[in-house]
Amino acid sequence: MKNWIKKISIVCMALIMVVGVTACGSSDSGSGDSGEVYTVATEPTFPPFDTTDEEGNIVGFDMDLMNAIAEDQGFSVEFVSYNFDGLIPALQSGNADIVAAGMWASDERKAEVDFSETYFDSGVVLAVADDNNTINSVEDLTSDMKVAYQVGTSSMDVAQQLEEEGKIAEAVGFDKVNDAVQAVNTGAVDALLNDKPVTLEYMNQQPDIIKIVGENVTTESYGIAVQKGNTELLDKINAGLKNVQEDGTFDELLEKWGLAEK
Ligand code: ARG
Repeated sequence: MKNWIKKISIVCMALIMVVGVTACGSSDSGSGDSGEVYTVATEPTFPPFDTTDEEGNIVGFDMDLMNAIAEDQGFSVEFVSYNFDGLIPALQSGNADIVAAGMWASDERKAEVDFSETYFDSGVVLAVADDNNTINSVEDLTSDMKVAYQVGTSSMDVAQQLEEEGKIAEAVGFDKVNDAVQAVNTGAVDALLNDKPVTLEYMNQQPDIIKIVGENVTTESYGIAVQKGNTELLDKINAGLKNVQEDGTFDELLEKWGLAEK
């Protein structure tokens, strides 16, 4: 009896080894598990794209999207958290393989990293305290006012430009979007520049604190970033993105995270 078990387990082990070697050898086929584990970096104060659950796990639309792409392409992902301005350096140093962070695939950034096809169109909006009746658009900002932004984002560029032009007193940077929202709430700053769907989500989670005023200040599209020249990984991401968009998974995830109409 014991011998039997031994024989079966030897056969099993041999099988596992053969399967394992075959899977490794065909890692560029786009299907099957290549066993590759990629580190995905994000900044998680950006709901519903990048946030944390009660246990502190990194979750969000971007994480579900990356998991779906990984499953489609037969690799695995693990998520790590950085400040937003540390994400591109993390790719460049090789500490992270992928950035999924509601990141604008801008021409400026394309000089530093490579982006997937874009997956969500968005824009920066201005938000003020819910009971503020004097600021109704960017034009209403005055040279005595302070405007908050998240460090390293496109909102930083907009805010700093307003400061340079003398249209506001000071552009105030925060590493975490929730701290920037809180600064509007306490009156430490007069307004906040941030991506529209994320500002809407903060309004949804904490009603009557802030409100959006005026039109979109910029329009932008999110892309998934990899180290410059990593076409092998970028091809997998683009192939997976296309597949999950075509099979309806992408739309289900938009629905799940309340992004279908944003
Ligand atoms: N879309 C903006 C940008 O790319 C802000 C992104 C912030 N993302 C984040 N996970 N905090 O500049």
